[in-house]
Amino acid sequence: MPANFDQLIDRSGTSSLKWEKYKDKDTLPFWVADMDFKSAPEIIEALHQRIEHGIFGYTVADEGLEDLVVERMNNLYDWQIEKEWIVWLPGLVTALNLAVRSVAGEGEYVAAPVPVYYPFLTAPSLGGRRMVGLDWVLENGQWRLDLESFKTRLTDDTRLLSICNPQNPNGRVLTRSELEAIEAVCKEHNIVVCSDEVHCDLILDRNCEHIPYAGLSEFTRDNSITLMSPSKTFNVAGFGFAYAIIPNDKLRSNFQRVRKGIVPDPDNMLIGYTAAKAAYQHGEPWRQCLLDYLRGNHDYLLKEINSIEGLSMEPLEATYLAWINVSELGLKDPHGFFEEHGVGLSPGAQFGDKDYLRLNFGCSRELLEQGISRIKAAVESLPH
Ligand SMILES: Cc1ncc(COP(=O)(O)O)c(C=O)c1O
Repeated sequence: MPANFDQLIDRSGTSSLKWEKYKDKDTLPFWVADMDFKSAPEIIEALHQRIEHGIFGYTVADEGLEDLVVERMNNLYDWQIEKEWIVWLPGLVTALNLAVRSVAGEGEYVAAPVPVYYPFLTAPSLGGRRMVGLDWVLENGQWRLDLESFKTRLTDDTRLLSICNPQNPNGRVLTRSELEAIEAVCKEHNIVVCSDEVHCDLILDRNCEHIPYAGLSEFTRDNSITLMSPSKTFNVAGFGFAYAIIPNDKLRSNFQRVRKGIVPDPDNMLIGYTAAKAAYQHGEPWRQCLLDYLRGNHDYLLKEINSIEGLSMEPLEATYLAWINVSELGLKDPHGFFEEHGVGLSPGAQFGDKDYLRLNFGCSRELLEQGISRIKAAVESLPH
């Protein structure tokens, strides 16, 4: 069955976090990162079959799923991993926090790029660790990590650098040379990298390729925790399912020790396992159609946003999350302003930059067009 991404699907009454927020308001939700598309039909079919069985007890990942993960890393990302390195988890944010607590000691430093998906910013303080920022700077229309100023801020007790690649929210896909520059700093300062690569299957720019940090060298393999999940790509975030790939035995056992008794053991992710297996086994044609649709939405959005006076965005290399600069509008509360005009976006301040808003374009073109016309009307309503 070909996917129909144009179909407008009513999500009301499904307890959707995204849609419930504005349920009694005429506000279109373009905030939290899930998509308004049905998941791949092969996934839905596998879930039906599993549900039909009727017994939903404790479940382990089967070898078939482990093989699929190993094959996927090799086939898509030229990264050779071992099954034993995989740690199944109920979510990526959990994993980010476990990484912080298992690698850095209390009071020690954890680094993260800024702006970034906000749990990166909160994980250090939640765990009683301290944070040092690695800035994203915009240079000639390209976002770049400012490693030079980062080096001057690094303390002797900085243990972990958590990166997000592809990056949420600016959509960058780090190149090999950028990753090698990160590696060089980490090698010099003995820093482990936690690399959240959940958006790696969502590369929009055909000139970009996803390179797992851990696959660069022996050093990066032995000093990294890589986080992955089918949740964003296949729109199954509600199942709470992710995995870490941790090649180094010591890092892996520390990670497992911190998890013990607090984060559920990986035997209650039955639905996640079922969905992941179907996604990785049969989901590739659907993913390619999704990418085409998202590329179309992206190109439309880029053109429209940059034609509105006071707004600007750079082309995204990956993700369905646009990062829009609204500073020229001179608004005190840009998020509240657009909400009042019927558009629910994510406030940039949450990610570490109040001059921006994040717009999720994982939705039908029609909905996106409605959002754009509301954004235009909102901006036009401002005094010139
Ligand atoms: C980079 C990144 N990591 C993690 C998550 C959330 O993952 P989970 O729902 O598995 O905690 C998101 C969701 O937007 C994300 O963009």
